[in-house]
Amino acid sequence: MDLKPDREMTAMTNDGPVPVAPLMSMFDPIYIGIDEFGQPVYTSVIYRNLLAGGEPGGGKSGLLNAICGHAAMCLDTSLVLFDGKRVELGPWQPIADEFVVGGMDHAISVLERLQKVLDNRYEWLAHLIDFGSVRRKIVPTDNVRVILTVIDELALYSATYGTKLQQERFVVLLRDLVARGRAAAMPVVVATQRPSHDIIPTSLRDLFGYRAAFRCTTPNSSNIVLGNGWAEQGYNAQDISPENQGQAYLLTEGGTPQKVKVCYLSDDNINDLAKHAKWIRKPMSGGVA
Ligand SMILES: Nc1ncnc2c1ncn2[C@@H]1O[C@H](COP(=O)(O)OP(=O)(O)OP(=O)(O)O)[C@@H](O)[C@H]1O
Ligand SMILES: [Mg+2]
Repeated sequence: MDLKPDREMTAMTNDGPVPVAPLMSMFDPIYIGIDEFGQPVYTSVIYRNLLAGGEPGGGKSGLLNAICGHAAMCLDTSLVLFDGKRVELGPWQPIADEFVVGGMDHAISVLERLQKVLDNRYEWLAHLIDFGSVRRKIVPTDNVRVILTVIDELALYSATYGTKLQQERFVVLLRDLVARGRAAAMPVVVATQRPSHDIIPTSLRDLFGYRAAFRCTTPNSSNIVLGNGWAEQGYNAQDISPENQGQAYLLTEGGTPQKVKVCYLSDDNINDLAKHAKWIRKPMSGGVA
């Protein structure tokens, strides 16, 4: 069989060649779709948090699945998934470290465990100074796993399921994860239909540096996702046609929103990827899990 060396199996980005599976890493750019000119669009969630919003059926879960698909192929990454509807991220459940559905006790205990990991990672970074190394974030050579938390339909946890007290506890813990997770290689990706203040406190929403606005029904809703003032400058997700599902304005830190048509993974695609991910993640004799 004529097998090419892995290093020759590459995808090109502005930053040069990126190895394709099985050598993918969460530190690599993530392919999420094409722009208005048909050019590939890559993003990154390492050291970043991403908030996706927009009307029902706009394509938010499609984006989350594209990101999960990349993460699934990364042996340096663990997935922690919250899927209030159960079926959106369900195929990734076998490879996820945690898969939370509707139970608020479970949701809160998973966030508490993530908080503990955060504390441990910051303590470890702080102790590096004793060895003469001042470090403010985890880097690939640390060999520390990226823990990607993906929450589909945040509103179910912050405003629907459980008691008011549980919802508040969930939001407090999530705020800590979003605020501190970045440098600890624990990024968070969240989707919700309308991230207004009754669903996600403004203080938490503002911590998400990256935004993806799928079709919205009003300019105000678009501004709630992207940030104030963008609709007035022409970046208005109300302009996206209802038939154009998967189209979004993507705002990354410091830039202007960019139109992206998110790559859509069919159920079959997702099942194939999840199956492959399970295979490459199977415990090895060397102990890789
Ligand atoms: N990138 C895409 N390209 C083509 N079609 C898409 C794309 N994304 C989504 N769709 C279509 O739109 C439908 C709804 O998408 P999706 O479930 O991602 O929406 P959503 O924003 O998560 O909706 P909800 O708020 O109800 O969860 C999909 O079942 C699919 O048919
Ligand atoms: Mg959805």
